[in-house]
Amino acid sequence: MTTVHNNRRVIGSEHIEQARQRGRIVFEILPGDIVTSLAAETAQRLGIKLLDGPLEKPSYPRTDGKTALRRGLYRRSAKWVAPVVQHHKNAQRFAKIAIVGAGGVGSNIAHLAANNDIASEIALIDIAPGVAEAIALDLNHCSGITRSGTRVTGSTRLSMLADASVVIVTAGRARSPGMTRSDLIDVNKRVIHSVGDVIKTQAPQAVVIVVTNPLDEMTVEMLRVTEFPRERVLGMAGTLDSSRFRHSLALAANVTPADVEAIALGSHGDEMVPVTSLAKIKGRPVSDFLSDEKIAACVKDAITGGGQVVALKKTGSATIAPAHASIELLDTMRGATSGAVPVSVMLEGEFGLDNVVLGIPAHIGMNGFIAAEPVLLSDHEQAMLADAADEIKRRLALS
Ligand code: LAC
Repeated sequence: MTTVHNNRRVIGSEHIEQARQRGRIVFEILPGDIVTSLAAETAQRLGIKLLDGPLEKPSYPRTDGKTALRRGLYRRSAKWVAPVVQHHKNAQRFAKIAIVGAGGVGSNIAHLAANNDIASEIALIDIAPGVAEAIALDLNHCSGITRSGTRVTGSTRLSMLADASVVIVTAGRARSPGMTRSDLIDVNKRVIHSVGDVIKTQAPQAVVIVVTNPLDEMTVEMLRVTEFPRERVLGMAGTLDSSRFRHSLALAANVTPADVEAIALGSHGDEMVPVTSLAKIKGRPVSDFLSDEKIAACVKDAITGGGQVVALKKTGSATIAPAHASIELLDTMRGATSGAVPVSVMLEGEFGLDNVVLGIPAHIGMNGFIAAEPVLLSDHEQAMLADAADEIKRRLALS
């Protein structure tokens, strides 16, 4: 391994020699690395090129054993290798997922969930006659190709959510250009109340995932109407906002998104807290790669990402990324992927906050929220989180 000095790597001639022994012909120099003059001479002598990083990680074609061996050696090298998403073989399968709202988000969730065969049954429910039924039939028609064992049913009746293990609520009005998510509070609150009433009586053991906006407020409404414990009422926002933040950082630093680790917490709106202090590119602080201005632009890009899609579409909001972000929650719950995910949950002292729904990094399982993942935020980020909490409380008091 390279020596790390004051947070900067010192590349010595021995590292170049080790790289040569591993069959490497290039050595990536990351911003801030110190290369000794002996290392530079050794590189020249051994014919190793010192390249200014970050370099794009080459993607490997499926190939023979020899290349696979080289790939293994490459992985063991000092060079950064993006973490691979771990999909666990012993992941559980849901008996029944109900999705309320078969618009863009709901139908994409159903599509991804059916395609990945993560449930025995998916009940898709929409108020518009024929819509959920048509999508269900369309999705079932895929099964001859995908061989998915998931059976999708469609209906206008909320009673179809009976006995679901998970109910995902996407129903409600989406934003039009110029609207903020909180402009939707009153109209969508009524939707949450009528759906929540049915969940309470017909799927009393379900974990509810709220996707309807404004996300944090609607998650509070769902808790109020179902009276479920906080563990079983989650809001989907952080996985979406984090994905947008990673995308933005990757684009700015000209690396692949797999090289970026970053999360966004807080509210799903203007008070979002993309966490720059913990964000990493190729395992190193983002500030090694991007100026403060560029980082600030990425933060803004994450916060306005949803609005950018609304402005382009003119009618309706994003659908595909929100669906993937919902699947990330389902996959984490069922143990298909491991680790903490950002999720909105009623706080009871976590991050020093109480009695408000906010996005925090958390461990979740088949029964919902398990525990918050302790992460050390900067004072500024912690203050932003507290401001988000105040703002959501203020909006809820007004509604
Ligand atoms: C978005 C909506 C779904 O962020 O809130 O795209």
